[in-house]
Amino acid sequence: MYENIKATAAWLRERMPSRPTTAIILGTGLGRLAEEIEITLAIDYKDIPHFPVSTVEGHSGRLLLGKLGDKEILAMQGRFHFYEGYSMKEVTFPVRVMYELGIKTLFVSNAAGGMNPSFKIGDLMVITDHINFFPEHPLHGKNFPTGPRFPDMHEAYDKELIAMADAIAAEKGVPLQHGVYVGTQGPTFETPAEYRMYRILGGDTVGMSTVPEVIVARHCGIRVFGISVVTDLGGFDVPVEVSHEDVQKAADAVQPVMADIMREMINRN
Ligand code: HPA
Repeated sequence: MYENIKATAAWLRERMPSRPTTAIILGTGLGRLAEEIEITLAIDYKDIPHFPVSTVEGHSGRLLLGKLGDKEILAMQGRFHFYEGYSMKEVTFPVRVMYELGIKTLFVSNAAGGMNPSFKIGDLMVITDHINFFPEHPLHGKNFPTGPRFPDMHEAYDKELIAMADAIAAEKGVPLQHGVYVGTQGPTFETPAEYRMYRILGGDTVGMSTVPEVIVARHCGIRVFGISVVTDLGGFDVPVEVSHEDVQKAADAVQPVMADIMREMINRN
């Protein structure tokens, strides 16, 4: 696996006209930011050696290199989810490649169900911490030489970047929530009892991504900043019926604000 990661990084390096230190995973809620990137290189995942092969037709995704404002960035347009059938090693393969390419800071976004009773649909929540509920750990197995066997996780989400987000949001008059993201395997949305359980356990939002990538990024010493878009609500005394369409609609509505904050952060970082 490690040889494949190195081979993929070497293959990409040969084709990359610049050496960005910032990467972004354009999850739900951030797709539109891709349109603002002055693209210098775009490669379909299916054309990158050793990259996971997409299971969903028409959803192969692309790796983008280019400028966002004044900043050179590497962007993943589309991510790999565990529920699609990928192993955790496949889900996190691109993050390992990012590390080999010299990425120092990673920005991530996701759509998530809100369980904190003070949250509303359309809220943005800065992820201050997470709870890993995936059934397989991304660091399971032989340790990679990028980090220790037993990595520290006390500051998975960088405090300086969180403070920067708060400052930018205050300047723009955008309210930001803060909280704990629970990462689950999906693909079912939670039952009412499950939402309540995750709330009792300390979660503010719940979703089906992000945690694996963040764990691996931290194992590589990459700083991480993450935001959840609250696309539906579950838990105590709130409606729980939710569909993929609801999630998409709520995420789309808040895209411009989310993109605004991320763009500014990437340019100041
Ligand atoms: N649960 C899990 N994943 C999600 C949710 C949710 O309520 N909303 C968006 N992604």
